[in-house]
Amino acid sequence: MTTNGFQTALEYSDKRKQVFRISSGSEELDKLLGGGMESMAITEVFGEFRTGKTQLSHTLCVTTQLPGKNGYSGGKVVFIDTENTFRPDRLKEIADRFNLDHGAMLDNVLYARAYTSEHQMELLDCVAAKFHEEPGVFKLLIVDSIMALFRVDFSGRGELADRQQKLAQMLSRLQKISEEYNVAVFITNQMTADPGATMSFQADPKKPIGGNIIAHASTTRISLRKGRGEMRIAKIYDSPDMPESEATFSITGGGIADAKE
Ligand code: GTP
Ligand code: MG
Repeated sequence: MTTNGFQTALEYSDKRKQVFRISSGSEELDKLLGGGMESMAITEVFGEFRTGKTQLSHTLCVTTQLPGKNGYSGGKVVFIDTENTFRPDRLKEIADRFNLDHGAMLDNVLYARAYTSEHQMELLDCVAAKFHEEPGVFKLLIVDSIMALFRVDFSGRGELADRQQKLAQMLSRLQKISEEYNVAVFITNQMTADPGATMSFQADPKKPIGGNIIAHASTTRISLRKGRGEMRIAKIYDSPDMPESEATFSITGGGIADAKE
């Protein structure tokens, strides 16, 4: 029982036992993530265009529905699309890899297109209401991409502080949803192409955008970069407690999978 927001450490420990992980479709990538996308947490992937952020989002729509390790029974997904790149037909191809019925699989994915950052925030209210109505049914909330609309809505020079404040509210909302309803939150992010960085010989000139706000809100941050052909390399970014290791995976017709060589 919670009293004024307090619970005993024992109660909290029991709650943490409900944490589950969702497979990315690639065992190597899952290993890097400590077993997959964690519930009660925000996982962020960032990378340049065509590094596979949206393809990973699509794959997760399907893998979330599959029963997994440690008694994970599978569940439904919410997909918030800010860039109009969601394609149900891709989900069908991915579902074929796992022998899922198309209709039933698509019926388990709740989709919304966000048109402004404000609309994106309103959609989170709807999501929270839905999760409240149907407890335990939804397991994953995807926002692809988290920053795209903020970049458009707050593009002026003097608007950065305002943008960061609104962004902080959104991420705080996402954290609350993930913990309150025990779901995994998966967000994709873009990168800066810092023009001054090459001049200053910085080791890592490309960074995820959104600054400290996203850095602090994300439990796990993964950077993606291109490899040969369909291969992609994922790396843990900036983690205090995870080693800086890498995983290679590939983008296939059936979604994200281990790289075959
Ligand atoms: P931005 O949103 O533009 O920043 O990129 P992203 O990181 O979201 O890239 P996305 O996930 O859209 O990845 C695009 C890559 O996936 C491209 O290299 C495509 O060739 C590849 N891809 C998309 N569909 C398929 C498919 O059906 N089969 C295979 N093998 N690759 C695909
Ligand atoms: Mg994309």
